[in-house]
Amino acid sequence: MKILITGNMGYIGPCVVKRLRTSFPNATLIGLDTGYFADCLTNSEIFPECRVDLQYFADVRKLPPGSLENVNALVHLAAISNDPMGSRFEKVTFDINYRASIELARRSKEAGVGAFVYASSCSMYGSGDDSPRTEKSLLNPLTAYARSKIQTEQDLQQFADKRFKITCLRFSTACGMSERLRLDLVLNDFVACAVACKEITILSDGSPWRPLIHVNDMARAIEWAIVRDPAEGDNFLAVNIGSDEWNYQIRDLAEAVAQIIPDVDISINKNAVPDKRSYRVSFDLFKKLAPNYQPEVDLTSAIQNLKDGLISMKFNDPDFRNSRYIRLKVLTDLQSKGFFNDQLEWINKN
Ligand SMILES: NC(=O)c1ccc[n+]([C@@H]2O[C@H](COP(=O)([O-])OP(=O)(O)OC[C@H]3O[C@@H](n4cnc5c(N)ncnc54)[C@H](O)[C@@H]3O)[C@@H](O)[C@H]2O)c1
Repeated sequence: MKILITGNMGYIGPCVVKRLRTSFPNATLIGLDTGYFADCLTNSEIFPECRVDLQYFADVRKLPPGSLENVNALVHLAAISNDPMGSRFEKVTFDINYRASIELARRSKEAGVGAFVYASSCSMYGSGDDSPRTEKSLLNPLTAYARSKIQTEQDLQQFADKRFKITCLRFSTACGMSERLRLDLVLNDFVACAVACKEITILSDGSPWRPLIHVNDMARAIEWAIVRDPAEGDNFLAVNIGSDEWNYQIRDLAEAVAQIIPDVDISINKNAVPDKRSYRVSFDLFKKLAPNYQPEVDLTSAIQNLKDGLISMKFNDPDFRNSRYIRLKVLTDLQSKGFFNDQLEWINKN
C-alpha cells in the first residue's frame, strides 16, 4: 500500500504519520508539504519526516509530476488551517483549501487512487442553538475558512464512485501534544496560559460550545477512513469526528485545566463580544460506522500530557499568543521578511 499525506509537516500530520507507520508497517508513506511550519518543532526526538519513505517539499497548487503514481490512499491535510489565517489570507485560503483540493481529487481519481480522505471541520456548523448538530443539520459558516471547507465537501461529491471512496472527516477542534505543537487551539492555549502565566484568560464570555478531539484520536479516525468498507457506508461520506463526551463549553475547559494545574486563576472577559462560533455536535454516525475507532483519550490525560510536554520544552513565554506557536504569526513573519509572494508561494528561500 502506498499512502500520500499532504500537509504532513503541520500539527496533526506528524501524529498521523506515526499512527500509519505503526498500523501499516509495510506501507510506503509519502509526505507532501510546502513547509510553512517546518522549523516549528516541539519536543521531537527525531525529525518527524524521517518516518516517511519520501518527502516532497511542494505546493498542493503545483503537484510534482508523478507524485500520485501508484498511490492507493491520499490523506489531504494541507490547508490554511484556521479562522484568523483565513481572514488575513482570504483569497489564498480559497485557492489552497478549495481550488487545489478539488484539483487534487480530480487528479487522484484519474491516477487510480482508491481512497481520498479529506480533513474537514465541524466549524462549518458555525453557530446555532444548544442542540447537537448532525451531518444533516443546516450549515452556518461564519468565516472564510469554514466556507472553504463546505465548498470543498460539496464539490468533492461529484468524483466519488465505487473505485474512488471519499471520506470528509468533519473534525472537532484538535488538542494535544504534537511534534509541531500549535497554541492557537483552545485547550492548548489554556494549558499554555496555565503553565506560563498561572492565569487563563478567556477571550470570550466562556459560554460557546466547542467539541474537541485529541490529535491521536484524529489519526485513528484517518486510519478508519482509509480502510473503511464503502459497502457499510457510502462512496462519499461526510461524518462528524469526535465524541459526545467532548462537547464542552469554553469555560468548562478552563476549569478542567485549573483543576489539574494548581494555583491557576481564570479570568473571563465579561465585556467580551460573545463569540458567535458556538456549536454542539452529534457523533452518532461516527459511533455507528466506526465502533472500533472511537476516541480513546480522556480530557484529564490530554491536559496532563500537554502540561508535561510544555514543561519538558521549558516553555515559559507569557507572550506566547504572539509567538511562533501561533500559525498566523509564523506566516505573517515569513511574509514580512520577503519569503512569500501574495499567494503565500515561496519566492526566496535564501
Ligand atoms: N487543528 C484543528 O483543530 C483542525 C480541526 C479540524 C480540521 N483541521 C484540518 O486538518 C488539517 C491539518 O490541520 P493542522 O492543525 O495540522 O494545521 P497546520 O497549519 O498545523 O498544518 C497544515 C500543513 O499544511 C501545509 N500546507 C498549507 N498550505 C499548503 C500548500 N499550498 N501546499 C502544501 N502544503 C501546504 C502547511 O505547511 C502545514 O504543514 C487542515 O486541513 C485543517 O483545516 C484541523
